Amino acid sequence: MVFLLGGSGYVGQAFGKELTQRGIPFRPVSRKQINYTDYRVLRTTLQKEKPEFVINAGGFTGKPNVDACENQRGETIAGNVTLAQTVAQACDAAGVRLGFVSSGCIYTGAKVRQESGAWAVEDRLTEPLVSELLSKRSDRVAGFTETDEPNFCFAHNNCSFYSGTKALAEEVMAGFPDFYVWRLRIPFDELDGPRNYLSKVQRYAKIYQNWNSISHRGDFVAACLDSWLQKIPGGVYNITNPGYVSTREVVEKIQKQLSPDWNPAFWRSDDEFYRFGAVTPRSNCILDTAKILKAGIKIRTAEEALEDALDHWVPENI
Ligand SMILES: NC(=O)c1ccc[n+]([C@@H]2O[C@H](COP(=O)([O-])OP(=O)(O)OC[C@H]3O[C@@H](n4cnc5c(N)ncnc54)[C@H](OP(=O)(O)O)[C@@H]3O)[C@@H](O)[C@H]2O)c1
Repeated sequence: MVFLLGGSGYVGQAFGKELTQRGIPFRPVSRKQINYTDYRVLRTTLQKEKPEFVINAGGFTGKPNVDACENQRGETIAGNVTLAQTVAQACDAAGVRLGFVSSGCIYTGAKVRQESGAWAVEDRLTEPLVSELLSKRSDRVAGFTETDEPNFCFAHNNCSFYSGTKALAEEVMAGFPDFYVWRLRIPFDELDGPRNYLSKVQRYAKIYQNWNSISHRGDFVAACLDSWLQKIPGGVYNITNPGYVSTREVVEKIQKQLSPDWNPAFWRSDDEFYRFGAVTPRSNCILDTAKILKAGIKIRTAEEALEDALDHWVPENI
């Protein structure tokens, strides 16, 4: 039996679907039924019911986007930091292994090999030279690995409040090295809806061009479950579809596969986007997926997963 905390959420629902498809017994636990934000309640429940594994897919993301976390700071800390600590401590005390849904949004940019041969972090992927290397899929660009320190976090004083709390949650989880920390990044799939990246791109009044690693929601939860079932070592894993995409490339795929006549407007610059389109800084980053792939977990490339989602697109209002 698997305990699924936050099973009512966008990511939690995908875990529920995958567990059902695999025939793995699970119990989606909502705060309304069992207040798993209360340490004693959760520890006692785990000690009594002895699940084999706990998934913590609970958290506070801000609706409709991370800007909302700026004005709901207490809730953001409670949902992302306090909850992570509470669940990890309760699982530790009850002797149950845990998988925690983290985020790649604790980074900005990518690593770029300089003319000198040295690698340096470039935190703005829209810089023309970096953008050119990215569009050529140059081997001079590499993603952040699990051992790279977060660079979009409170310690750098450059981040959204949401990203700051997700980086703090990883500090919490570092105290429990046997547990899994699964980093998700910009979820999408074929199901049109307000939380799906491919839907968001189609609904923005103006589109912001940047480069990112992305996670197909079904591929993400499948890889997370595989990591537990295949007993790979605990620790942090970047779980994105290998590769990366720019928003322009995503728009081109949508035009090709779904809406040939769609011709969206783009923000002209980062400056314009941050002046009129966003309140708090956004993470745009590339993650390295070598660790999870070397552990033997299979994940489709970002390009394959994107094209497949668009091929099987299910509009929201049908
Ligand atoms: N969606 C994304 O773009 C994205 C990207 C990267 C990482 N993540 C991470 O993935 C996890 C799940 O995100 P999600 O998009 O599935 O979020 P969601 O749709 O808002 O669902 C989160 C669930 O967490 C539970 N929860 C527990 N404590 C909470 C609190 N204090 N405030 C609000 N909800 C709380 C709620 O379930 P109950 O009330 O039923 O218990 C809620 O349904 C989070 O840790 C998030 O940071 C999400």
